[in-house]
Amino acid sequence: MRNLLAIRYLDAAEITAILDSARQYRAAVRERKSTVVDSPLGVGLLFFEDSTRTRVSFEQAAAHLGHRTVNFSGSSSSMRKGETLRDTIQTLRYEGLDAVVVRHPAAGSCNLAAHEFGGPVINAGDGAHEHPTQALGDALTILDRKGTIEGLRVAIIGDVLHSRVARSNAWLLSKLGAEVWLCGPRTLMPTNASRLPGKVTNEMPEAVDGADVVMCLRLQRERMASGLVGSVGEYTRHYQVNRRTLRRCSPDAIVMHPGPMNRGVEIDDATADGPASVIADQVRNSVYVRMAALSWCFAEGGAA
Ligand code: NCD
Repeated sequence: MRNLLAIRYLDAAEITAILDSARQYRAAVRERKSTVVDSPLGVGLLFFEDSTRTRVSFEQAAAHLGHRTVNFSGSSSSMRKGETLRDTIQTLRYEGLDAVVVRHPAAGSCNLAAHEFGGPVINAGDGAHEHPTQALGDALTILDRKGTIEGLRVAIIGDVLHSRVARSNAWLLSKLGAEVWLCGPRTLMPTNASRLPGKVTNEMPEAVDGADVVMCLRLQRERMASGLVGSVGEYTRHYQVNRRTLRRCSPDAIVMHPGPMNRGVEIDDATADGPASVIADQVRNSVYVRMAALSWCFAEGGAA
């Protein structure tokens, strides 16, 4: 058994193996072949932050594999009574869960959970740190459209500072040989952005010039200290992904967004619903990569 805590800890061969497995699960599910495992396990879904698509797709993935899920949300648990994350995780361990999927507002909380749990832990988003299964689903979607990641020019645009999606994607895409550009207003770029894999710019035209993939990030107002963006209108004028952006990209560029979208802010309606958008495929593929992630974590012989 092993944990899936961050793309940064994986090598290209491991990433490729998980993506291959996701493709096999997708084919099996589409052909209505059984994907149920011989020994079903109990998987806890611990969501201490709001989520629609991630939680539901883990539930779908577990159901396709025949695993039982136990839902556990921060707002209805003893953590409201002051219990620590450490004690909560230990309780779930004593209650006999085999794996836990954790989403938490604090960066590094999934590493703590992995340390306390003693079974596989999957990071479903920890603060502004990483969201590995989102990046895996995004990579599968890019591969479906482009056939390869090696040599692609990928522009990741917007609130890089608060985005675990940007971090996991920057690691994954650069490990598989893409040229990654990270772009946003100065106040929404991490001060250590130069340590993330990728080139950094505040100029959108420079980031998207000839891009094969444009990845929009949500403006994360719930994590934002006040004053980081002058006004939404100003942000939109400089960083919204729209028809004007696409004119600078490669003619067959695709547009991605992890959701939830602020329509009319980081992306306009015409682009979100237009022919370049692969947003629906990102959601579809997220189920299959989460099946692959669960199986990879439960596999015999993996190092924790
Ligand atoms: C993202 C998340 O929660 O990190 N959403 C998702 O999982 N699909 C991105 C976001 O909240 O902006």
